[in-house]
Amino acid sequence: MRLAHITDLHLERVPQLSELGNKRLLGAVNLYLMGRSKHFSADSQRGVIDALLRLAPDRVVCTGDLTATATYAEFDAFKEFIQPVVAKMPFDCIPGNHDLYTGESTGRYRERFDPEFSPVRTIDIGPVTLCLVDVCFADWMSRGRAEPATLLLLDQALTDSTKSVILGLHYPLRDRRGAVYGPHTRALINAAEVEALIDKHACVKAVLHGHEHHGFRTTVGARSVPIFNPGAAGYAFLPKKGRTAHFNVYDVDASGIVGVERYAWNGDTFEPEAGGAYATGG
Ligand SMILES: [Fe+2]
Ligand SMILES: [Fe+2]
Repeated sequence: MRLAHITDLHLERVPQLSELGNKRLLGAVNLYLMGRSKHFSADSQRGVIDALLRLAPDRVVCTGDLTATATYAEFDAFKEFIQPVVAKMPFDCIPGNHDLYTGESTGRYRERFDPEFSPVRTIDIGPVTLCLVDVCFADWMSRGRAEPATLLLLDQALTDSTKSVILGLHYPLRDRRGAVYGPHTRALINAAEVEALIDKHACVKAVLHGHEHHGFRTTVGARSVPIFNPGAAGYAFLPKKGRTAHFNVYDVDASGIVGVERYAWNGDTFEPEAGGAYATGG
């Protein structure tokens, strides 16, 4: 089966004045006065939908950061944005740190996308189990944390699994060189505890994540489990800065991921990355 992986769309809507409390005010300054919003593009975001409909994978997973500042307007925009895909194929997502931007946005994400919320969700996708783990919380330093209860649920889910497992989470475990991911202010605080579970359970065959907007692939643990980060699917086309949008499509069989195609936005359409997946770097 073919599984498409998108991440970090970061749909933006300018917040209402009444929504500009504390952290969101800082975020809005960063986005609209410091120019971060120019890093993302409605053209590539629309292009992702066109490409998914054209490629027609068996299902799509999104590893978070659907929005920029987790306002109702942004969540509604994402829901409308992804609807053509949802109408054609199964779609699953987990929140990113930008979707749990402030304390009250946790409720907003769950209300819109995950009313029966569980921090660990196992989804039978045919040859393998997709296990999505929510490690995000509202934090001034943009960190993630796998809570003790989440680790227990994950341990149990992996113990119970009768199939190979593809794990999805928002935060990287490792950086592009395979070293522990940093800086600690933007990282999963207890990534080591998640890695220990990957080492413990041989059924885990791959890890998918986002958060770091330049994509990379690496491995983790004693079994060299492959890790894939496609890179932000909502990135603007800025070739002089070596930056554009990407997403991945995996070939999956009972042994895990057996092939990866990475698609890059050329300013007009998404096409397979020249030279093969990750040949052009981030
Ligand atoms: Fe992001
Ligand atoms: Fe993120």
